[in-house]
Amino acid sequence: MNLTNTKIVLKRRPNPEVLEDLFDKITDTVRELNEEEFLVEVSYVSIDPAMRGWISTVGNYSEPVAFNEPMRSFGVGKIISTKNIKFEVGDFVVGWLGWQKYSIVKPKNIQMKIPENDVPLSANLGVLGLNGITAHAGLLDICKPNKGDTVVVTTAAGSVGSAVGQIAKIFDCKTIGITSSNEKKFFCLNEFKYDHVINYNEIKDISSELKKIAPQGIDCFFDNVGGEQFDAIMENININARVVVCGTIGMPSHPIPNGPRINRTLLVKRARIQGLLILDYFNKYSEIYNELLDWYKKGKLNNKEDISHGIETAPKSLVKLLNGSNLGKQLVKV
Ligand SMILES: NC(=O)c1ccc[n+]([C@@H]2O[C@H](COP(=O)([O-])OP(=O)(O)OC[C@H]3O[C@@H](n4cnc5c(N)ncnc54)[C@H](OP(=O)(O)O)[C@@H]3O)[C@@H](O)[C@H]2O)c1
Repeated sequence: MNLTNTKIVLKRRPNPEVLEDLFDKITDTVRELNEEEFLVEVSYVSIDPAMRGWISTVGNYSEPVAFNEPMRSFGVGKIISTKNIKFEVGDFVVGWLGWQKYSIVKPKNIQMKIPENDVPLSANLGVLGLNGITAHAGLLDICKPNKGDTVVVTTAAGSVGSAVGQIAKIFDCKTIGITSSNEKKFFCLNEFKYDHVINYNEIKDISSELKKIAPQGIDCFFDNVGGEQFDAIMENININARVVVCGTIGMPSHPIPNGPRINRTLLVKRARIQGLLILDYFNKYSEIYNELLDWYKKGKLNNKEDISHGIETAPKSLVKLLNGSNLGKQLVKV
């Protein structure tokens, strides 16, 4: 097979802003497969806030992306050539495929073979992908909501946030979302069925607003933002509240800003706060996927997507996501 690959590779690290020109487009010829490998024609790649950390020099839970390598990302695609008896031509897979048209991978790079179903392929990167799995793990395994609990979610209209809000409704909770615009608020109320939504650009005092909307206090808080939104919501937590720290997109990674000390809040409220890293749940990926799929097929989970076209649009889509102008799961159709 004589195929030309197009890859988006990292050229420079952010200093500290993530800009389109940190990346370069290169082309080369797809090499021959080695034993155990297979070749995936990539259909969609994922754009994620975590990429800001992956391309920086400051170490976190994974190695920084190397220069001149395809940008690390999840993707979905179809196997078109194989030297692995467990992965056949025609199988669809989801896993670490990178920002490129063709990806040579080994089984360890693949999260799951996508079962044959009539679900749109791209949903396997959204509500049925890492974002849905993250929402499920954080809400159900860490927050453990009870019927009637009040659940607050930041980035409520986004991919993880909208899944959290919808799963909380499946568990009969009262849901309050925080987002940045009236357009996103509309989606939160109408597509993701939040009970209340606060547009933080319109209502500056989130803490007072929460006291009006939820005088009974907040039992579960799923935070994707950090910073001032986090501080305001923490002022309203209930006794025995459960707080999951899933993301810090609203905070610079370095240097970490100072904020209120929450020790006394946690003490007085006997509350629990826990960080979430989805990699810790990869051994439960298929199990959680099947539960999400069931809800999706029953119409209980809506999957909103914001798709750009052509692999060369990936850097622009990342900048857009980090500016908060995406409306739904940010994807690139390759
Ligand atoms: N812990 C894990 O394993 C894990 C896994 C996946 C995702 N996450 C985290 O989950 C969060 C959401 O990810 P996603 O993929 O679903 O993205 P998303 O919510 O679809 O998109 C990102 C959203 O973040 C908000 N945002 C962007 N810049 C911001 C800023 N400076 N201040 C406040 N908000 C800002 C915007 O929402 P608004 O317009 O509503 O403000 C934007 O739409 C991220 O923090 C991500 O890192 C964590």
